[in-house]
Amino acid sequence: MKYVCSACGSEFLKWSGKCSVCNEWGTLEELSEEIVVLDNKTSTKKADYGAITKYRDSTHSKKGAQSRLSTGFLEFDRVLGGGLVQGEVALISGEPGVGKSTLLLHIALNLSSKNKILYVCGEESPSQLVSRLDRLASKSDNPDNIFVTNDVVVENIFNLVSEEKFGLVIVDSVQSVTSLSSKGYPGSISQVRASGSLLTRMSKVTGVPSLLVGQINKGGDIAGPKILEHIVDCVLYIEGGEFNQYRILRGMKNRFGSTNEIGVFEMTSKGMEEIGNPSLVFLDSKTSVSGSAIGAILQGSRVVFVEVQALVVERGSEVGPLRRVANGIKKPRLDMLCAVLSRRGGVYLGDKDVFVNVVGGVTVSDPAVDLAVCAAIKSAVKDNVLDRKSVYFGEVGLTGEVRGTWGIESVLSEASRVGYKKIYIGNASLRDRHDLEVSVVKGIKTL
Ligand code: TYD
Ligand code: MG
Repeated sequence: MKYVCSACGSEFLKWSGKCSVCNEWGTLEELSEEIVVLDNKTSTKKADYGAITKYRDSTHSKKGAQSRLSTGFLEFDRVLGGGLVQGEVALISGEPGVGKSTLLLHIALNLSSKNKILYVCGEESPSQLVSRLDRLASKSDNPDNIFVTNDVVVENIFNLVSEEKFGLVIVDSVQSVTSLSSKGYPGSISQVRASGSLLTRMSKVTGVPSLLVGQINKGGDIAGPKILEHIVDCVLYIEGGEFNQYRILRGMKNRFGSTNEIGVFEMTSKGMEEIGNPSLVFLDSKTSVSGSAIGAILQGSRVVFVEVQALVVERGSEVGPLRRVANGIKKPRLDMLCAVLSRRGGVYLGDKDVFVNVVGGVTVSDPAVDLAVCAAIKSAVKDNVLDRKSVYFGEVGLTGEVRGTWGIESVLSEASRVGYKKIYIGNASLRDRHDLEVSVVKGIKTL
């Protein structure tokens, strides 16, 4: 008998209330021993999979690598690295209600004119799913090609996919399917581990790509063992809040493409719609107020403009720790920028609460947004309004210097294309200014 922590995947021989590796409470689950029954017939059979193939001769090398299956969404294909590879397994995750099932139903419909699709619905009844399909279907789709099943036994799905010729298998969700080889209840670590690896094997053996929905746990990670993320080819997250119509598809792991790319969708009354040119969707108000700056960030090959808002509140006689609230950027980053601004930027924030928000619910990890954050905070402190036609792009270092020249050419050309007039950047040698007024910021004191 073994116990596995559902948060970090560590294994223990004894149960305890707290995982001694990641310090999470109540995450240890019993891992029922997986019984592998080997009958004489299969064990003596010559292995048909896993046999050594020569690099060039391999039947699945060239064809599989070149022909990618488009999902019908350019945004989805972009995140995958150009479409689904033969036999690819992608895990799609996100908060409940973010639109995982909706997006996958759209993909099933998009592909239905040319392929047969298997949709395993473990969470909804087939009739519910069919009514959702009918609602989302457009004229060019062929819903008759979508086969909906609520048979959640992975072995049966494997057999079905080996016999019938499907173009894509969708499993919604991997926590709701069960494998006969595991004794755990659906969604338990041992079940997810067994079903996940069998589904992966299914795709690898048959060459049919599969999209698996992965539920998330309370910490925001994919529920189930970490090993699930290791065995699949691609892990995608759909981000976006309940009160925000935009959904951002982000790659966390991708064996066949870059993980920097994002895909932007909008949740509308007709389901999910992709946004082809999202560089401007995260901008908000046209009214000019202090404490708002527009930053440029790079997401893979794409330039996106985001509006950063800051609110700085002077403390009166209030006691307690200073508040530094960051939405859309990491809190340690905000702490650092506040410290740099206090020490090197000429604005003392040691007695002020600072709130920063990136408009539109987007989470920015590109440090090039630093300059926009600093500009917004400075603008809030000095109560001067920044020009809405100016963009900020640069990473701020601990000495207050502004860096970041990687990708500057594409930022300049995109900024000029969408109508900005001025850009603030770090020190860079530019080949082409794209008709923009370029202001080089030597240090944040001069910002
Ligand atoms: P769903 O795909 O069921 O979420 P998940 O599978 O990730 O849990 O998404 C359902 C949400 O999407 C629901 O809260 C309402 C919204 N929605 C729309 O706004 N428009 C639509 O056309 C559809 C189908 C759903
Ligand atoms: Mg769902």
